[in-house]
Amino acid sequence: MNYLEVNKDAWDSRTDTHIKSEFYDVESFKKGRSSLNPPELKLLGDVKGKSILHLQCHFGQDTLSLARMGANVTGVDLSSKAIEQANLLKESLGIDATFVESDVCQFDQINQKQFDIVFTSYGVLCWLSDLSAWANTVANSLKCGGKFHLVEFHSVNDLLSGYSYFPKSEPDIDEEGTYTENCDGTTSTMATWSHSISEVISALLAAGLKIEVFSESPYSPYNCFDGLEYIPGYGYQMLHKNQQVPLIYSISARKITDKLK
Ligand SMILES: C[S@@+](CC[C@H](N)C(=O)[O-])C[C@H]1O[C@@H](n2cnc3c(N)ncnc32)[C@H](O)[C@@H]1O
Repeated sequence: MNYLEVNKDAWDSRTDTHIKSEFYDVESFKKGRSSLNPPELKLLGDVKGKSILHLQCHFGQDTLSLARMGANVTGVDLSSKAIEQANLLKESLGIDATFVESDVCQFDQINQKQFDIVFTSYGVLCWLSDLSAWANTVANSLKCGGKFHLVEFHSVNDLLSGYSYFPKSEPDIDEEGTYTENCDGTTSTMATWSHSISEVISALLAAGLKIEVFSESPYSPYNCFDGLEYIPGYGYQMLHKNQQVPLIYSISARKITDKLK
C-alpha cells in the first residue's frame, strides 16, 4: 500500500467537507476572524515582517491568518485539493501568501529558502512515518537563529483512544469519517503513525535544534474528539477516572548552527 497516496486521497476528500463546515467557519474567516488560537499566538509572538514556513497548512486559514498579521508566509501541504482551496481563499481575500503542494518529509529536497520561523499545529505528526526526515525539513528550512513552533494534540489522548503511545514500525490503517460536524458518514482509508513525545523531542534534537519551550495543557481549543467538555475561558477538556487528560503540548526550538544537508 502506498501510504502517502492513501493519505493524500483521504485529505483531498476531507478538504471538500471541511470547507463547508461550521468547524472551520470560512464565512467568519473571510470577514476577518483569525483561525489562530492563544497557545500558538503566545509562542509565535509578533510575526510582522517575519518569513514563516507553515507545514501541513491544510486549506490555508492559519497561513492566511499569519499573513494578515504582517508575515510573509509559505504554506505546504500534501493534499492538492487543500492547496487548490488555499489558493482560492487567498485570491478571494487578496492576501499575499505562497502555497506549495508537497510531502513535508520531501519538501527539503525542493526547497532552497530559509525562513525566520517554521510553524505547524494540531493533528500533523500522526500522518508522518519518519520524524527524522520531518525534523530535517524543519531544521534545514530555518535560518540560523530561526525558531520552530509546534502545537500538537497530546499522544496520551491517542493512547486512551486505543492507539499505541510508542512508535511502531507499521502504521495503523483505519476507515474513518472526518472530525467536522458536517461529516455525512463518508469514510476514507487513512494511515497513521504513533509518535511518543520523547520521539518528537529526540528527532528535533538530532536535527540540531535547541529546545527552548516545552509545555502540556489539559485544554484544547478544538472540539474534535469524543468525550470533550467545554470549560468557559479555557477550552475543551477530557476527564479520565475523574482526572484531566493532557490534550495538547507545545514545543519551541531554535536553530543554533547550520548542519550540512
Ligand atoms: C489536521 S490537518 C492540519 C490542520 C491545521 N492545523 C489547519 O490549518 O487546519 C493535517 C494536514 O496535514 C496534511 N498532511 C498529511 N500528511 C502530510 C504529509 N506527508 N506532508 C504534508 N502534508 C500532509 C493533510 O493534507 C492536512 O491538510
